[in-house]
Amino acid sequence: MLKSKNLNRRFFMKGASATALIGSAIGGGLALPSAANARGLGNISMSMSYDLNEEFNRIGSGDAKWDGIRRRARPFDVPFPMGVADMDFRTLPHVTEALMRRMGHQNWGYQAAPADYYENIIAWNKKRYNQEVKPGSILNSHGVLDGCLSILKLHNTSGAPILVQTPGYSGFFGVVRNAQFTTVENPLKLIDGNWEMDLEAMASQIDENEVKVMLFCNPQNPTGNCWSPDIMRAMGDLCIEKGVLVVADEIHCDFINKGATYTPYATLGEKYAMSSYTLKSTSKSFNLAAQHVAYLFSDNMEMINNLKKSGHQRGSLNILGMIACNAAYKHGATYMDDMQAYMDGNCRLLEDFCSKSMRDIDYNVHEGTYLAFIDCSSVAKKLGKPEEGKRVGDMLQKFFIEKAGVNLNPGENYGTGGRGYMRMNLATTQHKLKGALAAMKMAIDNI
Ligand SMILES: Cc1ncc(COP(=O)(O)O)c(C=O)c1O
Repeated sequence: MLKSKNLNRRFFMKGASATALIGSAIGGGLALPSAANARGLGNISMSMSYDLNEEFNRIGSGDAKWDGIRRRARPFDVPFPMGVADMDFRTLPHVTEALMRRMGHQNWGYQAAPADYYENIIAWNKKRYNQEVKPGSILNSHGVLDGCLSILKLHNTSGAPILVQTPGYSGFFGVVRNAQFTTVENPLKLIDGNWEMDLEAMASQIDENEVKVMLFCNPQNPTGNCWSPDIMRAMGDLCIEKGVLVVADEIHCDFINKGATYTPYATLGEKYAMSSYTLKSTSKSFNLAAQHVAYLFSDNMEMINNLKKSGHQRGSLNILGMIACNAAYKHGATYMDDMQAYMDGNCRLLEDFCSKSMRDIDYNVHEGTYLAFIDCSSVAKKLGKPEEGKRVGDMLQKFFIEKAGVNLNPGENYGTGGRGYMRMNLATTQHKLKGALAAMKMAIDNI
């Protein structure tokens, strides 16, 4: 078995019984303006088993989030890449340990999934969300989007446009294009700062476009809604009445802020479970995207069997990915609890900082995901018009990279409603988040 000092679980869990003073470690070359230190950037204390304040270096591994933007932004440095949706934290040590153990075996022939693989998927969903996933109803998938692609191909035989609520996950548009279909956008309504569903418009859009499939996101990337049972039931009733299949992408379900609740769509009742698929993975929750492991399931075994027959990928996945997913679900409950508390702290820190020190950006703590959809329209107004052929979000992205070293994703990437907004990935240490906010404030103050 390979051994590494960095994989000593106790090392990462060093503060095991301690209370972590989140954000106490300002320094390391990140000079914060004193006003920012004094107002809105105080220490938040929380009890944690894992040391999520550890600064974990991702640079140099071909990393999409860090290396990718640093290459594209040259000659500008980007010390705060907050675009790609994954996390800056060290992975759950049990995952790396399990992978190291398997690596030591040096046998790379055909292999079955870990014996308790499906059991652990079922247990995670049952324990945390009281969701019953039927044994035998789970299909493996290289990614959540790969699963969506198979489902679209099977169910959208009429070639009708695919319904997506916007602002919505940008990857949906790509996967719909991959399947050779078009998207019909159903914009969320912004009411008193809250993004809300527009079911009236949805009903007529379904009729007009003869929609057969909806890609639904719960919690919604990028607006962060954890959809309530009532609104999901109303949406589901509409879809059932009109014969629209609901494809529930619930990949962000493990990130729920204090006071919010995630309700799995399929738990609303039998008719909703029978007319939908759910897709999940450990790739967001445990930062395992490069392992390419996801799963989908449905109570409707006829749909699952048809999907198997219709050319959805063969059952097995890369064994390392399955081992990683298995270890995460088996050992990761405390890590996930810590992560939720830490993300909640980051969201509150951002809200506080915007309201007290960076008033040109508007943000209220959202419900789920580690992504904040921040309203930067006042900043855009100060910057003036974008260059020919560029969007407001492109202009804002360039500004924050060049003047603050912060990469954010343009709101327009997420469809109608996104103009003036930027998506900020908060899955980083509070030290880095504070550095990014201080740099953004300084850049805005200097416009
Ligand atoms: C809502 C949503 N679905 C799917 C994905 C991608 O999942 P995968 O990499 O498993 O295809 C993402 C990644 O950001 C996402 O935010």
